[in-house]
Amino acid sequence: MSNDPLFRPLKVGAVELSHRIVMAPLTRMRAAQPGDIPHELNAEYYGQRASKGGLLITEATDITAQAHGYPLVPGIYTSAQIQGWRAVTDAVHAKGGFIFNQIWHVGRISHSSMQPDGELPVAPSAIPASGNHMTASFETVPFETPRALETFELADIVADFAQAAVNACEAGFDGVEIHGANGYLLDQFLRTGSNKRTDRYGGSIENRARLLLEVVDAASKRIGADRVGVRLSPWGGFNDMHDDDGSLLWEYVITELDKRGIAYLHVIEPRADFTSDTAPLDADAPDAASSFRALFRGAFISAGGYLPDTARAAVAEGKADAIAFGRPFISNPDLPERVRVGAKLTAHDRSTFYGGGREGYTDYPTLPQPVEA
Ligand code: FNR
Repeated sequence: MSNDPLFRPLKVGAVELSHRIVMAPLTRMRAAQPGDIPHELNAEYYGQRASKGGLLITEATDITAQAHGYPLVPGIYTSAQIQGWRAVTDAVHAKGGFIFNQIWHVGRISHSSMQPDGELPVAPSAIPASGNHMTASFETVPFETPRALETFELADIVADFAQAAVNACEAGFDGVEIHGANGYLLDQFLRTGSNKRTDRYGGSIENRARLLLEVVDAASKRIGADRVGVRLSPWGGFNDMHDDDGSLLWEYVITELDKRGIAYLHVIEPRADFTSDTAPLDADAPDAASSFRALFRGAFISAGGYLPDTARAAVAEGKADAIAFGRPFISNPDLPERVRVGAKLTAHDRSTFYGGGREGYTDYPTLPQPVEA
């Protein structure tokens, strides 16, 4: 067994990892058009980042056309998309890696130009996020006021998530990560700033958590809880999120997730602002991993502002079982190997994060030659 805590095996639900360096979900806006279909270039990108016994989580993936909120983002609801993803999962499995599909519905973080029939985006309540968003043609416009979902529509959204989980398995994924973070639909339901509903899905913490938990239950029933992970961003402010509950909301949600025996919980540390590369880590931000690790018995993944040394320390201290890296995985396709041998990391180029082709996507260098253990 390795002396390095990052290179010890870890059971994550139905899969057994051989190391603890996870690729975080990263939207890159490079699906083939029309149809938001994953294609060969995406398979090459994920294949480059796969490693034996390592876990990759895909970019957020639309569960339906209504779930769509950014141009060029892939889906998992048509047969062409499922087939496109098959090339991605094959490329990762060929290297002995594992891959989960992050499934999302953006809720109010969309624009009518990207919605079926030009309709308004949907949300728990008719409250727009503050600030601007993009249209289908990349224009910057203020957020529109979304349409509040009717209670009867929520059962369909739950079913759409569950069907996406089934589709992901058909595409060869090892499991799904339900996107409950970063101000998208499920997070919008969780938080008081965006949820003013008066039905069973609004008001109390239990009611606001209901949609997320119903989604988890429905997906678990279809594909097995040991193939379902959940991502949360406790206290996160991205996409104009805020709430009045302090820790109570997160404690309730995480305790409920624990009861369900899911494969993993993935939390984003609020200290890191991934929209900036110059903002320092916020030293005053609460530490999500330290706060919630004890409430969850499955695999616990922490993300946000980690470097190899801080990741190693977090796992050694038992704050988390595995660490997800976002930006460092963009610019270091062989990140686990670099961490293992202590090689220098390549810096990322933010200008090529979203959209485009190979540049800044599949052309980052790997170490010149594999270094033997
Ligand atoms: C992200 N992040 C993100 N999170 C998520 O849950 N789904 C997604 O699709 C994306 N997309 C995305 C794109 C890009 C370009 C960046 C930089 C970030 C957040 C990401 O998973 C991670 O939590 C943050 O980047 C913080 O980790 P690092 O980058 O500090 O390791």
